[in-house]
Amino acid sequence: MTKERLQKVMAEAGVASRRHSEKIILAGRVTVNGQQVTTLGTKVDASDVVAVDGVPLQKEQHEYFLLNKPRGVISSAHDEHGRTTVVDLLKQGGVAERIYPVGRLDYDTTGALLLTNDGELANKLMHPRFEINKTYVAKVKGVVTNDELRTLRRGVNIDGRLTRESHPRLVETDRAQKTCRVKITIHEGRYHQVKKMFEAIGHPVLKLHRESYGFLDLSGLASGEFRPLRTAEVQALREL
Ligand code: URA
Repeated sequence: MTKERLQKVMAEAGVASRRHSEKIILAGRVTVNGQQVTTLGTKVDASDVVAVDGVPLQKEQHEYFLLNKPRGVISSAHDEHGRTTVVDLLKQGGVAERIYPVGRLDYDTTGALLLTNDGELANKLMHPRFEINKTYVAKVKGVVTNDELRTLRRGVNIDGRLTRESHPRLVETDRAQKTCRVKITIHEGRYHQVKKMFEAIGHPVLKLHRESYGFLDLSGLASGEFRPLRTAEVQALREL
């Protein structure tokens, strides 16, 4: 069972921000299993009973959603420029929980995005060792050749490091517009990875859509719509 810092557990249970929770701890208002705790580094796990002013913390129910992210929406909980975030979309749809996206899609990228308040599972899914298959469809400038697809598959240098093996496939060519669409499955989650990979083979991305995240695809979800995951889906993500 993962141990977390007391102030993080308090913040996640909605007591106060982490900073303010630290003040509450220092003020001697917090007990762990009945013992007063005033040390900020203290770690607790799910079996510990944490109380503030004698009132035990409510254990937060874990929630999991799959969103079909539209263009022009930020993949974070807050945006300092006041732009709409993926969390705003869920709130508008009646989700009251503090939910966060698992990884990110760019502002102009559309498609499958998982959101949850289960930090442990989110960290696991984002960890490079567990990185799960993500399938994108990229509309790119120019027509990608078989040689270029092979180069992509074997790995291209982005930010000084080779990408791991990927699975690209040409799905459509528009000779008049001089563009094509390539479906590509990657296992990593590096910053702007797909755009940089196509940039590296000389075909800038014009549009990017994530069709699926692991076994989760967008069946039945129009752009901007979301749905809760089924219990079996959550279980399958845990077992990945
Ligand atoms: N790769 C990108 O370049 N952008 C995304 O949004 C996702 C993957």
